[in-house]
Amino acid sequence: MNLLNNSENYTLVTGASSGIGKAITKEFAERGHNLVLVARNKKVLEELANQWSTYYKINVLVVSINLQEENAAKSIYEWCQTHNIKVDALINNAGIGLFGAFEKLSIDEQIKMIALNVNSLVRLAYYFVPDLKKHKKGYILNVASIAAFYPLPYYSVYGATKAFVLSFTEALRHELRHSTITVSCLCPGDTNTNFFNNAGNTNKKRSLMSPKSVAKVAIDSLFDNQSVIFPGNMKLVSKVPRFILKKIIARRVSKYKL
Ligand SMILES: NC(=O)c1ccc[n+]([C@@H]2O[C@H](COP(=O)([O-])OP(=O)(O)OC[C@H]3O[C@@H](n4cnc5c(N)ncnc54)[C@H](OP(=O)(O)O)[C@@H]3O)[C@@H](O)[C@H]2O)c1
Repeated sequence: MNLLNNSENYTLVTGASSGIGKAITKEFAERGHNLVLVARNKKVLEELANQWSTYYKINVLVVSINLQEENAAKSIYEWCQTHNIKVDALINNAGIGLFGAFEKLSIDEQIKMIALNVNSLVRLAYYFVPDLKKHKKGYILNVASIAAFYPLPYYSVYGATKAFVLSFTEALRHELRHSTITVSCLCPGDTNTNFFNNAGNTNKKRSLMSPKSVAKVAIDSLFDNQSVIFPGNMKLVSKVPRFILKKIIARRVSKYKL
């Protein structure tokens, strides 16, 4: 390892190869944090690591792994232990969606989505919490979605994974309130990333936030110890009573081409 920065601490970001995760790594890099980038696409991660380390004079390490594998989170944790990588911020961002009628989508793909969006996030938090507690200040940012606040037809399992992430994160935040760890949940609305194409949703979006603006609000608010982080005007959406939100969403999805 060729280390440029004397700080021993690292921020670990999952889903760092594109979209919101990539923007989050840039935001941390600009603030001088060393990084561990996690995703499957090794080539993209290595290119990013090269760029960020050269430009920002930080240490950037790469772990190319499929987080849907049961042992992935444990392997990442053990890899950090073996290489004496001290993680003081865990950013659980990796996630995918699947768009379509529940019974028409592959059940195996839907279960794999739960493995990524839920299982890997929970496992990473589980392994890293004891170490995060040892730092003067530790951080966990779990990425949910504004969809955590209402049922989302045609993304039924995806929406449920995000409701899980929000509930889990708020409960964990309470449990850790007397520790040195800040736990926050990021709830973005529609953001301009590969998410929709990868999910199989080609319906046009009316307005999309930029990953950069989402990442900036996310990291500012995490350091400001906010519990649930709403980029853009998503806070307003979260305040709308659930029975009204359900009607708005039903109207919106009725226009979808499936
Ligand atoms: N875009 C939106 O409108 C929106 C709104 C609300 C919430 N979110 C949430 O934001 C997070 C980031 O999504 P995004 O919009 O930035 O989408 P994205 O551009 O598609 O990024 C997804 C990231 O997750 C990684 N990933 C996917 N499958 C993986 C696997 N099996 N193992 C390891 N890494 C994997 C991808 O990297 P590799 O392909 O290299 O593995 C990529 O880095 C997700 O949790 C998503 O649910 C997005």
